[in-house]
Amino acid sequence: MIRTLLSACWLCCAVHCAAAAEPPLPAVLPAPRSVTQLDGGFTLDAATVVCPEQGLEPLADYLSDYLGLASDAARAGEGALVLRTEPRLGAEAYELRILPGRIEIAGGDRGGVFCGIQTLFQLLPPEVYARRCPLPVRLACREVKDAPRYAYRGMMLDVARTWIGPEPLRRYIDLMAYHKINKLHLHLADDEGWRIEILSHPELTEIGGFRGGDSPVRPVYGKWDEKYGGYFTQREMRELIDYAAVRNIEIIPEIDLPGHSRNIARVHPEILCRYTPDTAPSNGYDLRSAWCPAREENYTLLEDILGELCALFPSPYIHIGGDEVEASQWARCPDCRAMMRRCGLTEARGLQDRFMERLAAILARHGKLPAVWNESVRGRRLGRDTRVHGWESMKACRDALAAGYPTVVMPAAWFYFDMRQTPREEGHDWAAVFDVRKTYGFDLRAEGVTGEELRRVAGFEGAFWSEAYVSHEPERPDYLDYMLFPRLCALAELAWHGNDEGWEAFYDRLQHAHYDRMSAMGVRYRLFPPEVSTGGGAVAAKAPDAGAEVWYRVDGDTTAHRYVRPVATCGPHRYLFHTRRGTGRSPEVGVPARYRTITPGLRLTTSMGESARIPYANVERYATFARTAHTCRPGDWILYEFAAPVRCREMVLQTGNRQLPKTIVTTGYVEVSADGLNFERVAELEKGSVVLRPEGPVRAVRIVSTAEDNGCAYVTVQPPRILPVL
Ligand code: ACM
Ligand code: ZN
Repeated sequence: MIRTLLSACWLCCAVHCAAAAEPPLPAVLPAPRSVTQLDGGFTLDAATVVCPEQGLEPLADYLSDYLGLASDAARAGEGALVLRTEPRLGAEAYELRILPGRIEIAGGDRGGVFCGIQTLFQLLPPEVYARRCPLPVRLACREVKDAPRYAYRGMMLDVARTWIGPEPLRRYIDLMAYHKINKLHLHLADDEGWRIEILSHPELTEIGGFRGGDSPVRPVYGKWDEKYGGYFTQREMRELIDYAAVRNIEIIPEIDLPGHSRNIARVHPEILCRYTPDTAPSNGYDLRSAWCPAREENYTLLEDILGELCALFPSPYIHIGGDEVEASQWARCPDCRAMMRRCGLTEARGLQDRFMERLAAILARHGKLPAVWNESVRGRRLGRDTRVHGWESMKACRDALAAGYPTVVMPAAWFYFDMRQTPREEGHDWAAVFDVRKTYGFDLRAEGVTGEELRRVAGFEGAFWSEAYVSHEPERPDYLDYMLFPRLCALAELAWHGNDEGWEAFYDRLQHAHYDRMSAMGVRYRLFPPEVSTGGGAVAAKAPDAGAEVWYRVDGDTTAHRYVRPVATCGPHRYLFHTRRGTGRSPEVGVPARYRTITPGLRLTTSMGESARIPYANVERYATFARTAHTCRPGDWILYEFAAPVRCREMVLQTGNRQLPKTIVTTGYVEVSADGLNFERVAELEKGSVVLRPEGPVRAVRIVSTAEDNGCAYVTVQPPRILPVL
């Protein structure tokens, strides 16, 4: 009830701020449990001294650094900013008191003190995040009492597909800490890269830390022309662990096993199953990606790797993966088949349980517990002290909870921040297309979690898988920020406080306070796009966010103009609008006519053979994608022939999946024919795609490959996207 009252008060204040007699209640995000207004005020100025209890000096230094204050444990008197622990409050809980003579932050533990500091930051001008807080600041006296809803408030970053090194990672640790996120799950090894030094096996990073060039690991995901990669030395990782620990963040390492292991299998091919794979479709490259669970020596290598991780990371959990294993590799292996007979298994998939059990035993010998993706507990063989990360669906989360596993709830359709935010934006869409509002609205009870199972929810985690990031990095340095924020703000709110006050109240805090904070943090966050409408011979746009400006440009012209009034035009489809505020920016949007497509009669042929399972007819019907039977070689081609010449303003031909620069024709050119017989070379492929703006009718288009392959066993072909002349 208190919370409801507070939320309602904040809304009033947001609307009537200028007229209100009382200072507005703070728009803290995530929202605290309770805020009580007290009489008087405190002036925080350059003379304020941070006074830490013994052991809290690193937090005093952290706070002093942001505010430019002195820190002195001996000066706890008048005007001090006191940091202390009060264990009765409980883990990560805190009480923040702003009194006329001093500020006190009492935390149930160091984490609680840190969270109290974050709340104090949010009571100060946003410039505090840029270490430019304009002192003195007059603060209204208040008492904030707060505690987390969940002990696990996590974010997973995939540093394997796109290498994210120590410096950017430090920045993300800071950004997470500002939001009271307390777990950083680092996905350190996958098919495309091994990112953590293992001292007893330096080859894992010296070779496996890189792909392309002279590495035996094939280039992939937009990095075909260079040797690409990087890795954390153990010293660098130790520094990151310490950096994160001061900020109340525990780093949980993940090595994805037994699947997603093509990288280590290029460095140690002996870990694979014993059979000769068919490498013809992939131009001789062995695409097998799973460890052989029947090979005893594999557990010695895994003992070396996991042993070092256990020694390096203070986290009680080591994440050992366990998702998306291609068990067909085990079904073909004589050793695996013998193991299945010994274990009485009828399905190769069951071997995963035995493999994970062995890893859990290794971890136990080193005093650690396993964390796994939800597929690893389908067999229910792992101990109930295993922490499950439920990613596939809510059903997968519910199953793990029902089986008695503490579960981090992170179904992709709400928590995978690599998903695009509206259909025409960048990002994946295989799980869902969603923005901050959907993440905020996630409701465990509505998703069928009840009773005892609710108590097993460890918390929530957002995830960012980086296979698409790598190809955005050069042109869109804001990509990761844009995908994470403000969805991470909603994750923080859910995990720390809950969403009981409703979207409107949360959105109000976002608009009226937190956007400005994120601008001061330097976060290039996503804003909602403007609403665009036409009528009376003009096109108009309206910003949905308070304080956001609308900008527009004419298609084909990069110069943007500030929007002040409707634009008179007979070609509204030529205009694109976006909103800006501080460092935030929305996607560009236009009128609906801009996006209308046509589907003229089409025949697709290629020189690369046709997949029987995913045939060319899919593309000819403009229904979904098709696959070739093998990967591309120089001279291979894809031919699109139209039943009649097509007039259009734009034609987009795409190989691979949008945002997944993997199953594409990596390098090549494009030829266009007006009569279906004579072709003219008109463009080069870019990331497997081409955008044509033909001046005349088009009868046929041919894509010609100049590349040896694409790191995969086939090429994907998408239906053409053809925009009519308007
Ligand atoms: C996953 O997304 N494969 C865990
Ligand atoms: Zn095997």
